[in-house]
Amino acid sequence: MSNLKPKEIVKELDKYIIGQNKAKRSVAIALRNRWRRQQVPEDLRDEIAPKNIILIGPTGVGKTEIARRLSNLTDSPFNKIEASKFTEVGYVGRDVESMVRDLLELTVNKLKAREQEAVKEKAWQIAEERMLDLLLPKSEKHQTQKSDATAETHLELLSSSGGDESSSTREKLRSMLRNGKLDNRYVDLEVSDRAMPVVEIFSNVGMEEMGINFKDMLGGLIPKSTKRRKVKVPEAMETMAAEEAQNLVDLDKVVKQAIEKVEQSGIIFLDEIDKIVGKNGTKGPDVSGEGVQRDLLPIVEGSTVTTKYGPVKSDNILFIAAGAFHTVKPSDLIPELQGRFPIRVELDSLGWKEFVRILTEPKNALLLQYLALLKTEDVEMVFENDAVEGIAKIAEEVNNMTENIGARRLHTIMECLLEDILFDAPDLHEKRIVIDRLYVENKLKDIKDDEDLSRYIL
Ligand SMILES: Nc1ncnc2c1ncn2[C@@H]1O[C@H](COP(=O)(O)OP(=O)(O)O)[C@@H](O)[C@H]1O
Ligand SMILES: [Mg+2]
Repeated sequence: MSNLKPKEIVKELDKYIIGQNKAKRSVAIALRNRWRRQQVPEDLRDEIAPKNIILIGPTGVGKTEIARRLSNLTDSPFNKIEASKFTEVGYVGRDVESMVRDLLELTVNKLKAREQEAVKEKAWQIAEERMLDLLLPKSEKHQTQKSDATAETHLELLSSSGGDESSSTREKLRSMLRNGKLDNRYVDLEVSDRAMPVVEIFSNVGMEEMGINFKDMLGGLIPKSTKRRKVKVPEAMETMAAEEAQNLVDLDKVVKQAIEKVEQSGIIFLDEIDKIVGKNGTKGPDVSGEGVQRDLLPIVEGSTVTTKYGPVKSDNILFIAAGAFHTVKPSDLIPELQGRFPIRVELDSLGWKEFVRILTEPKNALLLQYLALLKTEDVEMVFENDAVEGIAKIAEEVNNMTENIGARRLHTIMECLLEDILFDAPDLHEKRIVIDRLYVENKLKDIKDDEDLSRYIL
């Protein structure tokens, strides 16, 4: 578990998110508290619940971004879900425990991929031996192995060195393989073929409750059918290396680690929590927001969720909820849930000054992204300062005039601004483009000044 100090966490978040200091501070504290809890003697530790957070603020001000970066920063399992989806027709009674299952599934997959990456080299070595076996079946008797077409072709290749011992033949072949000299050859490869169309007719509805996946279940029962296919050597190497990597990874261990990680450091981001606030949250006959809140409660309070990998406790999962809370207040949540979300932070709405910084400062700033994209076409684009300011101001104006979608507005505006350049870039003779205030005004002013037009375009 990460032992970053709150200050360090905020500093890291600063690299990606402009402003919103209060929110950054609260999530930093919540995270540090989890680490602190780990250090507390066991009998008391179990009494300490995570301090869940509600981030309050209009759309596009960085709520999701903060939570996502936080999880990356600490390598915590992270899952984002819209609370409102539990009230949708068709999802009636969809059990909210699925959020914990999904989190575990994501984590298992991520850890599995990571472990496989770690054994990649070893897997490649094994694959190489397998490949050599394929190319040189029964290497001792290679002179008489003429029946195998593949081997034959390769032995012909080596005929200049004919009469060599099999081991040196193998080494020669190995170096040819490594130098890519066999890249255009084909080998017969057993590939597993697990298409099971019959199973598809079962739906997972209902089974989902137990986290049982029919396909997975039957997948284990039905014998793996394999079929032989002719594939090129490089592709065969990839396939075999992937197979070997899978074999090398201890799945039980991965699952155990994943469960522990989810239980100890998982973060669930509950978006649109305000949409399940009672008042007018009733959408269908049975689907009331309050009902969903009641369903949520045990998970947030801590309960054991059954998954296909085994039971997972949700007691220490950190919940970060977010919502605009335009028409309702956090105090409209059912009291039990309010108590579970003791930390409330308001995020600031963003104006042009923040937009200037968002465009230019973060590590992944929007302007930098466009510069990098165009650089691939050898086009060097330069933004003058007052052009950036112009873009930011237009974004603010359009937000005020139509709908306030925060920093998201910058995406549509940039796309509109640069459309011609992005289209023509490969054919441009002048490889240096300077975007100045005038260019911005010319491109955007008419659209901006026409409210209807900007509603559609920006
Ligand atoms: N304060 C901010 N600093 C940097 N980028 C931001 C900020 N707020 C929003 N963005 C950018 O705007 C987009 C939407 O932000 P997001 O966090 O998803 O908004 P929301 O508050 O609706 O969850 C993202 O691309 C994000 O990078
Ligand atoms: Mg969001």
